[in-house]
Amino acid sequence: MTVDLSTRWLGFELKNPFVPSSSPLSKDVATARQLEDNGAAALIMYSLFEEEIEAEETRAHELAEFQDIGHGEASSYLPTHAELPGHRDQYLEQLRRLKDALDIPIIASLNGTTLGGWVRHAQAIAEAGADALELNVYYVAADITEDGAAIEQRVVDILAELRRQVTLPIGVKLSPNFSSVGHLAKRLEQAGANGLTLFNRFYQPDIDLDSLAIDQSLRLSNSGDALLAMRWIAILHGRVGLSLAATGGVHTAQDALKMFLCGADVSCLCSALLASGPERLRELHNGVSEWLEANDYESLQQLRGSLSQQHCPDPVAFERGNYMQILSRYKLPAKAWS
Ligand SMILES: Cc1cc2nc3c(=O)[nH]c(=O)nc-3n(C[C@H](O)[C@H](O)[C@H](O)COP(=O)(O)O)c2cc1C
Repeated sequence: MTVDLSTRWLGFELKNPFVPSSSPLSKDVATARQLEDNGAAALIMYSLFEEEIEAEETRAHELAEFQDIGHGEASSYLPTHAELPGHRDQYLEQLRRLKDALDIPIIASLNGTTLGGWVRHAQAIAEAGADALELNVYYVAADITEDGAAIEQRVVDILAELRRQVTLPIGVKLSPNFSSVGHLAKRLEQAGANGLTLFNRFYQPDIDLDSLAIDQSLRLSNSGDALLAMRWIAILHGRVGLSLAATGGVHTAQDALKMFLCGADVSCLCSALLASGPERLRELHNGVSEWLEANDYESLQQLRGSLSQQHCPDPVAFERGNYMQILSRYKLPAKAWS
């Protein structure tokens, strides 16, 4: 018996639920093709950043001014704006290359935090052939004068503007640090989102005690990180009309199965692929199929959401419910405390 792993996500019928998430793996067509060959069902591109678009617009503006005021012979040696491929054009070119080389849906990623002109560039992304868009509002609320409602509103406003610009399916990649993730999810649905990607993983600065400098090295995730998205996918499944993509900490077939039990439509993979290579996709595919088969499931669909909050036998486990008992059940390790 072959288990049916097909899934529906952002309106796409995918042959399986494994999607390489936004990462440098989409910067090279040959690498992206390896992902497809190993079973990736769709591909989310690395992000085009608001800062990159705005820097490019400023540069074009300065160049135009420089040429306007006339600098004699020197200006004739300057390339025109059209001759300088900026981040945006390079991004669109890479998107076209990926679309030409791969058969799976390609999801472009826009990354920014303010409601500004950069959002309009979504139209060019749509024209270049993207099948969908992921909006990543990676924002660290470091301004202590700004309240949570304003931050939420900005995410909704950016999404609403993006919705006005394009008809493509849009998934919003959210941070876990909103005080009411579910309420924001509902608002985003009303503002035209088609899916959520849970969650953005914040890169935490550390301190190097030798140099007393901030250590900004990037650490990949591990399976323990998956618990954060699992809870919220379980809470949202069946309560919002949005596709749910899990990101953060999916490394093994077991991690992915837990996400699907909670209600994820797809599991996105980044650290696992960066660390272990494209074959990890096959391992997950086989691992999930084998587990489903061994447990008498005919399809992934049959299992999806069966341990979401609405369906699991102990719904309060996802809330405060068992918190007190869990704390009081903890036993001091005998090795450390005799
Ligand atoms: C090297 C690297 C580059 C990434 N680049 C992006 C990016 O451009 N845009 C984005 O939305 N997420 C980016 N991410 C975040 C991943 O897409 C993913 O959400 C995060 O790493 C958590 O998933 P994981 O535990 O599978 O790594 C990047 C992550 C890494 C490690």
